[in-house]
Amino acid sequence: MDTVSIADGIPQNPNEERFKQLVEKFKKVYNGIQPQFLCRAPGRVNLIGEHIDYCGYSVLPMAIDQDIVAVFAASDNNEVEISNTDESFQAGSFTIGKFSISYEKSDWYEYFKCGVQGIHDKFPDFNLKGMKVLIDGTIPRSAGLSSSSALVVCAALTTAIANGITIGKTDLAERCAECEKYIGTQGGGMDQAASCLARSGSAMLISFNPLKIQDVTLPVGCAFVVTHSLTELNKAASDHFNIRVSECRLATQILAHAKNLDWRSIRKPSELQIALGLTITELEKFALDTLHKLPYTLNEIADLLSVTVDELISISLKPNVNRGIELVGIGIDTPLLLKAYIRFCVLKKKQKFELCNRIKHVLSEANRVLLFKQVCDSNTHDRLEKLGELMNQSHNSCSKLYECSSNELDELTDICRQSGALGSRLTGAGWGGCAVSLVREENLHTFITSVRDKFYINSKDTKRAVKAEQSIFPTLPGCGIYVARL
Ligand code: GLA
Repeated sequence: MDTVSIADGIPQNPNEERFKQLVEKFKKVYNGIQPQFLCRAPGRVNLIGEHIDYCGYSVLPMAIDQDIVAVFAASDNNEVEISNTDESFQAGSFTIGKFSISYEKSDWYEYFKCGVQGIHDKFPDFNLKGMKVLIDGTIPRSAGLSSSSALVVCAALTTAIANGITIGKTDLAERCAECEKYIGTQGGGMDQAASCLARSGSAMLISFNPLKIQDVTLPVGCAFVVTHSLTELNKAASDHFNIRVSECRLATQILAHAKNLDWRSIRKPSELQIALGLTITELEKFALDTLHKLPYTLNEIADLLSVTVDELISISLKPNVNRGIELVGIGIDTPLLLKAYIRFCVLKKKQKFELCNRIKHVLSEANRVLLFKQVCDSNTHDRLEKLGELMNQSHNSCSKLYECSSNELDELTDICRQSGALGSRLTGAGWGGCAVSLVREENLHTFITSVRDKFYINSKDTKRAVKAEQSIFPTLPGCGIYVARL
């Protein structure tokens, strides 16, 4: 079922008490006003398939129980008033159609604005009403568990429901993947699709263009455990992420040019693969035979493609916000985006691009995702070992070829393996955040005790010990978005 259905009343689930308290808190914050609806969007843990969604390849995450919940009431004007149950996040407000979004400002609700804008873009003729919103979040921030995308999805869903707009889940996921780019990162669509389309009990194979989900039943007897490296990366404030996206695009375009294709119109490795009619493995071989191992400069790439550096920047590296709208979005602060673009160009001219290693990661990881799904669907006795091995290979590739790990994540995944995990890897964008490990159910307790002692309690970094309890949790495939009328 693709439409978002609306339950009557608070759903009976482990969150019931939390939701009731949220309603009471809302009334306190907004002077006795009764909230009308509750929307919930979960985070996700990616089991395998890192940094390949924006290259057009399938990924295999599952939703987690941790989520972002909004309770809200529509307003008569177009003012959005927003507060958070966590009082370290200051309440704020903005006017629909008249606000700016910035990755440079640190307002916690910048991502909420992205979601509101996403609905505004999709229904431009609709005079969107504002709302009073109270947010409650349980997803650790900057941990690779998609707290930002869950906030975007929750915001878009809240805006749609407050305005009586019906939107399908797939549409919502695609819209949210586009509008999250307003914050400045050129992510793919995994996080938003996982949040919108997850079904309780199954992991999911997400494919793009068109967005499609296949349920993946995880083998009986295995558990997935999330552990936090206790280092954080703010994706939006970091250039690492966008540079990786650029590297994949530039590698793709050099390869397209080498085969006399119209390289300007081919932006993702998956598009190149289709244009050449190759398998992923054949494309990998062609890429490794064609690209040199040393980093490329922009001058060299421009020469190869017979354009000037400025032309190359404009064709290949310009951040495209919301497809057609490019730098000028409705209600989006253009000078700020231009500033981001100028910073981007300056940075790009100095930047060296590691094309060979990056594309090798992308294509080998794309294959590992398909193998992971095949192993889940098979009946072999050593399924868990095979899945674990694929996860270990994935981490190694992320760490060595894609360079999106960190010392802490490498240390943590090593400790997880020593503690009995069959496989362990970073999850999400990386450069900090969480790891996910595959553990036999019967070893779960010993695993958790061992990781707790080795990584947290007995670490030289004494700050880790106090956070041990909240930093390790087993997780099952949770359900996607839902809405309840209060
Ligand atoms: C972030 C992005 C996703 C994906 C992952 C890395 O979470 O939002 O689209 O690219 O990083 O796999």
